[in-house]
Amino acid sequence: MDGIKVLSTGYYAPENILDNFDLEKMVETSDDWIVSRTGIKKRHISKGEDCTEMAYQAALQAIEKIDKNKIGIIICATMTPDYFTPSTACLLQERLGLNDHEVMCFDLSAACSGFVYALTVAQALLKNTKDKYALVVGSEELSKIIDFTDRNTCVLFGDGAGAVVVSQGDGLFASYCNSAGNIGALKAPAINNKEDNHYLTMAGQEVFKFAVKVIPESINAILEKTGLEFDDIAYVVCHQANYRIIKNVYKKMKAEPEKFYMNLQEYGNTSAASIPLALGEMNAKGMLKSGDKIICVGFGGGLTWGATLIEWS
Ligand code: UT7
Repeated sequence: MDGIKVLSTGYYAPENILDNFDLEKMVETSDDWIVSRTGIKKRHISKGEDCTEMAYQAALQAIEKIDKNKIGIIICATMTPDYFTPSTACLLQERLGLNDHEVMCFDLSAACSGFVYALTVAQALLKNTKDKYALVVGSEELSKIIDFTDRNTCVLFGDGAGAVVVSQGDGLFASYCNSAGNIGALKAPAINNKEDNHYLTMAGQEVFKFAVKVIPESINAILEKTGLEFDDIAYVVCHQANYRIIKNVYKKMKAEPEKFYMNLQEYGNTSAASIPLALGEMNAKGMLKSGDKIICVGFGGGLTWGATLIEWS
């Protein structure tokens, strides 16, 4: 059976909020510039919560209504882990009280495409893991790699986490993942790197042009693989980087804007966390019903990009 069933979702964002007016006091920027260029109004910034803690809070919500003892795989997509080793996934295993269980745990590094990649890997692994569940998490403490004196980046990013639990099931699943090595577009050197600093840098316009090309490409790849029409899709959940990117895509695809869920105004860009955080929020709002087909699209550092189709159960 190649399908998956989404059993539950969870999400977490730190209570501490940094809005555009706070940023006006920190760098030469304005609420007007940030809203008109990105759509972002605020972002949640960790005050003590590390990457593992945020992942844990999202995971706790996701496992509330399922039998956690059936979890056989934990994958955490992140580019801001607390440790190179142990992985965030191993730390989650411990905190969830699953240390004496047979669980495969690892982190996945694909920047803002991390969740789409992780879901793809989980689905493949579930085929060989009878009756087990996979906990797939995206968690980012981006604030620790953001230079809050650099207006090119500090207005864009936020912290947060999202989680889903999936099992083998009848729900349709399809995936398309791609990458093209490119260090110049977006990078965050390792903290012990000999470079000047460990802050994230991004060639904004280059990534913008890349995004508006690869999002429609990824959606079309999924439609081609499944034989579905765009009309069959209930929602597209894009990585939440910039409302102008999403607007460009729905215009190019002549699609209804309402199909493209957006919460970047509240959280900013949370990299690998943005898609599961959006799914968790949509689920909590009761927006998703059985049979809904959802395309999740990620794009970002690597460069990486891709999409998955999930069917809500
Ligand atoms: O998660 C990974 C994926 N990342 C993305 O998808 C990001 C993609 N890129 C973008 O979203 C946009 O390129 C940005 C939001 C990063 C920038 O928007 P833009 O419309 O491409 O602006 P720009 O870089 O062309 O800058 C326009 C002007 C520049 O000034 P000059 O040279 O025209 O005088 C910048 O220096 O805006 C200036 N600027 C700012 N002004 C006020 C740049 N950042 C700011 C700022 N506040 N925060």
